[in-house]
This record gives sequence, structure tokens and C-alpha cells, in this order.
Amino acid sequence: MTTQKLMLLFILAICFSLSYSQAQKIFISNTFNRTCTSLNGKWQYVVDAYETGGMGGMPIFRNYEPKDKSDRVEYGFTSGRTLWVPGSWNIQKPELNYYEGSVWYRKTFNKENISKDKRYFIYIGASNYKTTVSLNGKILGKHEGGFTPFSYEVTDLLKEKDNYVIIGVNNSREADYIPAKVTDWFNHGGITRDVKIIEVPKTFINNYFIALDKSALNFKTKKIKGKIQFAGSELPKKANVIIPELKIDKEISVNEEGDTEFTLEVKHLELWSPENPKLYTVTITAGSDKISDEIGFRTIETKGKQILLNGKPVFLKGICLHDENPLRKDRTNNIEDAKLMLGWARELGCNFLRLAHYPHQEKIVRLADKMGMLLWEELPLYWGIQWGNPEVLKKAKAQYTEMINRDYNRASSIIWSVANETAPTEDRTKFLSDLADYIRSIDDTRLISAACKKDQEADGHPDSVYTYNDPLMEKLDIISFNEYLGWYGGFPEECRTKSFKAGLEKPIVVTEFGGGALQGFHGDSLTRWSEEFQEYLYKESIAMFDKIDGLAGMTPWILVDFQSPLRQLPEIQDGWNRKGLISEKGYKKKAFFVLKEYYESKGR
Ligand code: GCU
Repeated sequence: MTTQKLMLLFILAICFSLSYSQAQKIFISNTFNRTCTSLNGKWQYVVDAYETGGMGGMPIFRNYEPKDKSDRVEYGFTSGRTLWVPGSWNIQKPELNYYEGSVWYRKTFNKENISKDKRYFIYIGASNYKTTVSLNGKILGKHEGGFTPFSYEVTDLLKEKDNYVIIGVNNSREADYIPAKVTDWFNHGGITRDVKIIEVPKTFINNYFIALDKSALNFKTKKIKGKIQFAGSELPKKANVIIPELKIDKEISVNEEGDTEFTLEVKHLELWSPENPKLYTVTITAGSDKISDEIGFRTIETKGKQILLNGKPVFLKGICLHDENPLRKDRTNNIEDAKLMLGWARELGCNFLRLAHYPHQEKIVRLADKMGMLLWEELPLYWGIQWGNPEVLKKAKAQYTEMINRDYNRASSIIWSVANETAPTEDRTKFLSDLADYIRSIDDTRLISAACKKDQEADGHPDSVYTYNDPLMEKLDIISFNEYLGWYGGFPEECRTKSFKAGLEKPIVVTEFGGGALQGFHGDSLTRWSEEFQEYLYKESIAMFDKIDGLAGMTPWILVDFQSPLRQLPEIQDGWNRKGLISEKGYKKKAFFVLKEYYESKGR
């Protein structure tokens, strides 16, 4: 072969490997078990109120500093002006409490022992809402979405000394965002979850999806199915999946596309459940990479009006919660916050949580795996979304992909929800049906639902039967709806004359009901905002819903009071939605014990 031909082949090989690695969508899952350098802590910041991205013609991410006493620079990062990361800027600075716009953060750091045999990524657990990430003066990428993780490669930019990462975050609300302009929660802006530098081998295990195959559920020998995605140019030929407790060490071949699927036949598998949240250490090795995770194995299905966990009917004794620790008035972002929220839910007697209305921090999902708490997870496709805008559907699929990439291996997560309280227009039903199909195409190990709302007034029957026949329900595995009879319209005693049915032979989960109470304010059961009114409303609501044929669970609204700019009734709300069963100071209201008693009556 002539030299020219050899050179051409060599150049083609370089181009292919470059394009291949760039073409690979990098999603580094399970960052907890990766070698990381945390960038959490104090970051300097610049408020960019007019969203120019720079002052005096100097882009902020370029980190200009005056060269001498005459030099002009019209912005600056100073040690005297810092924000904690992770954390919402709104609750850290009084002048930023209701601020919605752009803030630029900067962190300088050194990175010892940079290896030429490694690749490096900057990982952000979440930042709300649009984020621009740069390192050492180079833009790495832009991300949209306030609640899902993302990462960018920094291998070629990282230095041993004096790195500066500058991240611009904008939390403005826009009609074509997810959520759109109006929500009933506080618009926490900023880098709200962990930031870290992750190091991995040149070719590494980018992501993996491992679950129990429901087809073998009733056999002694169970089947675990899995898929591993690699990233890098020198793809391994083999990989090993090791589960010591099951005496599994299986070698699997890796195809030339870098993907691989496998099935493991296992005996004596202990299934994961709320009663027995059994987790197995699963290790994947391939080439010079190795990653371990704690994975539970379970199946979730429906059969007629029942939800089956591991083939057995389960009643979902749930509660809704926002991803906000009211004691700190901030988004949750650490394991203590997760333990506080799940501890309250456990005290209430829950085996199920609706993580409203957006992906919560990953530590809550992993803690739910350990505690045996089932989860409903959702994107904030909430109220008035631009359903006819194809760009919004693309964003929804992208953000759902990030959420599934993050939580696929979590046994606790059993339901993906595609919407909350969205009017059944044609555009909306098409958008959500398309999204539901997409979700099923990348994850068939969970059920799909949506919190619908009553658009069908009582159909005139003397017993006022509410019939839920939202067209979207054809696409859902579980029929779910929010119902505030006795709070938004009517009084609690009207619950005695109402009944509900869905037009389909599917399980029903009531995803919201309840009413507001200021903890410590007492009156009779007709005194709005008193604990007694809320208690009465819970008693009547529960009695009404408990009669539903096919009721498979409920998640009343809501575990704990949460911040919302919509709620401005002086002396009662003052910026808090008071439908919590626990106050923002952690005190339980009377209705807490009504729901607790009901769940105790439902048994395990
Ligand atoms: C709605 C909505 C919640 C809201 C609640 C309320 O159903 O889904 O996000 O906070 O009702 O009105 O308090």
C-alpha cells in the first residue's frame, strides 16, 4: 500500500474516532461512584439584570480583569460578593429575593495530578432555568431545564493551576419553557444542586440500564436484563457484570457501536419492595473502567384496576411534596434534606411519594431506594404549556431523557407522569401522547400516568357522578386526577353526595386533594384556614375517595407548606401555600393525623 493511501486511511481513522466520540451523547450516570472534585461552596457572582452577558463590550465568561490602573473593565467578581452553591440565590440575598433574570457565577480552582490517560467533565446536578457553562474563557455548552443533570467535557481545557469556571444562569419564566410562565411554586433561581469535576478513563461506561425482566417474574430462575453504553474511541470488546451476592460474574461482548445488551439468569433473587427494600451491589467492568451501583429488582404492572408490585396488588399510600426544605426555604440539595422530607412521609405512614412537579434531587430518589418508598416522578408540564410548539416537545423529550438516564436503575421510581392539570385540547393530547410513546420507547419498566383535572362537570346524574374521560387517559396505564371539592368550590359535606368513576378499566390514583390551614390557627370546622376546617375536609374527602371502585392509591396535596408567590393572603399565607399537613416550621397540623389513621387502616 502506498504511503499516500496509508496517510489517507490514518486521517480517515482519526476523523471517524473524533466524530464518533463527539457524536456520542455523554450522560455520566451514578456520579456518586465516580472520582470527583467537588466545586460546591462559595462562588463569586455578578448580577446581569439586563441579560447582556457582559458589560462595556466585554463578555463576562472571559473573566476580564484590569491590566493596569488605566484599564477599563465594567464588571468584576470579588471575594466580598459570594453565593453558596448549591443553593437558590433568592434566599441568600434580600436584594435577590424575587429576582428573575441572569446571574453569572465564578469559581477558581486548581486541579492536581491531571492525567493524559483520563477524560474530565464538569457535572451540574441542576440549575434553574437556562445555563451557560464556560471554563477558562471557553463556552462549553448551554442547557435548558431547571431540574435535570448535565455535563460538558473539559479534558482539553483543564489546567493544574488557576482554572476559572464561569456559569451564567437565567431563571426568567417564558411561555415556551417547561414550566411556562405561571406556576404555584417559588421560582428558585441559580445552581441548585451539586457541581463537580468528574474524571473517567479515556473510554468509559457512560451509562447503564439494568432491571428485572417481568416476563420471568413467576419463575424460580429470574431474568435480569441490561444495556451498557460506552463512550470513547477505543471501545472494549468485552465487559463483565458482577453481582457477588447472586454469584454472578458474566462476561458479555460489546458490539462495534459500543452498546451491548445482556440477560442474566439468577436464582434466589430477593425482590425489592417497601417491606423489603433489598439492594444488590452490581459492578460493571470494561477495559480500564469500573463502576458499582446499589440496585433493587422489582416489577410494576397493572392488571384491570389493580397496580401490581412484583405481581401482587399494592395500595399507594402517598403524599405530594415539592423539592423544598421549608426550614431552610431552599430547594433540597443534600442528604439531610432528603432524610427530613422522607422521614416526615414515613411518619405519616406513606409507602409512596409524588415528587411534584419536576425531578427532585437524586439523593431523594436514592434514599427512597434504601427506605423502600415508591415514587411518582414528573416533568413540569404544568398548566399552560405551548402544546402546539414542536420545539417545546423536543425540550420535553430532552429533559425526560435526562431524568430517565439519571433514575432508570432506581427500583423506587415506578411511575413517570407526563403532565399536571392540563386542559384536554387537541394539541395537548397529541403532545402528551407523543411524549408517552417516547418515554415507553426508552423505558418499558415503569408505568405512565398524568394528573388530570375535572373538565367534565358532573354529568347530571342525581348522585352527581363525576366521570373522568379525558382523551389522554387512553394512553395512560393509571388514571389519575386532582379533585378539590370542598376547597375550590363547595363545602366538605358535599363530598358525601359525590362519587367518581373513570371511563376505563384501569387503576385510579387521586393525585391531589386538600385545603389550606395556618398551623396553630383554630376555629370550628367551617372556619376557613383553621386546622379544624382542613381536618374536616380530609375526613370527608378520604371517605369520598375511599368509595371509588378501583382506587389504587392517593397522594393528597401536600406534605408540608411551601413557598409560592401566588399565595399572598396577609397573616395567613404571606407567600406560602398552606395546604401542607406540616407547617414550614415543621409542626404537624390536625389533618396530618387523619391521613395517618387512614393509612394505618389500609394495612401494609
Ligand atoms: C393544583 C396544582 C398544585 C397547586 C395546588 C393548589 O392542583 O397541581 O401545583 O399548588 O393545586 O391549588 O394548592
